[in-house]
Amino acid sequence: MENEVNQSLKYWNNLHSNYDRSDIKYDDWLEKFQEIIDACKTPILDLGCGSGNDTLYLINKGKKVIPCDQSENAIKNIKKNFPEIFDCKCFNMLEGFPFPDNYCDLIISDLCLHYFREKDTFKIINEIRRILKDNGHLIFRLNSINDINHGAGSGSEIEHHLYTTQDNRLKRFFDEKDILYFFKDFQIEYLKEETMSRYKLEKRLYLGCIKKY
Ligand SMILES: C[S@@+](CC[C@H](N)C(=O)[O-])C[C@H]1O[C@@H](n2cnc3c(N)ncnc32)[C@H](O)[C@@H]1O
Repeated sequence: MENEVNQSLKYWNNLHSNYDRSDIKYDDWLEKFQEIIDACKTPILDLGCGSGNDTLYLINKGKKVIPCDQSENAIKNIKKNFPEIFDCKCFNMLEGFPFPDNYCDLIISDLCLHYFREKDTFKIINEIRRILKDNGHLIFRLNSINDINHGAGSGSEIEHHLYTTQDNRLKRFFDEKDILYFFKDFQIEYLKEETMSRYKLEKRLYLGCIKKY
């Protein structure tokens, strides 16, 4: 466990070493949730923000965003590239979220909730639920079991649909049943498997919007 956590941090710190705002590109996946985004009166958390693709999208829509990531390098870049941001947080989601109960109306988690064992995934989802206000939304993208271009079905399966990568990190691939299982305490408002073309090879993923009730 310790090793997986260190490997993940090392991997993402390497990847997020240095980039400028002009390098940041986003796709339009959040467009279909514009009504929810517009209606949000609290800051929006961008969980596992990485380089800040979704942060940039939301800022361009005039929203207040709090980018969050475990990687010190990612957060260093965020601070450099988004001087207008009033707050950002560097923390490991496995250690709890540094926000009070019922803190916000909307959390975006783009490709960052699929790196964990089942018990840890539940722990993180419970934290998301804790800090969301009633009727608050989580909008996410998650690896699909059909994402063969990005490792689905390869490596050793250590839990159902959870694989170890060659560099000893964890990667989970979801089907619809898995998503309904993990998010059973939420109301599913939208869930669809889609193809994303942001990377060199097409990526299959699930796009979801769920509500705390
Ligand atoms: C695939 S990147 C996604 C980045 C961004 N959301 C995007 O779509 O471009 C996954 C991000 O999740 C972050 N992450 C992974 N495990 C984490 C953890 N335990 N706590 C906080 N962030 C984590 C990584 O540091 C990385 O920046």
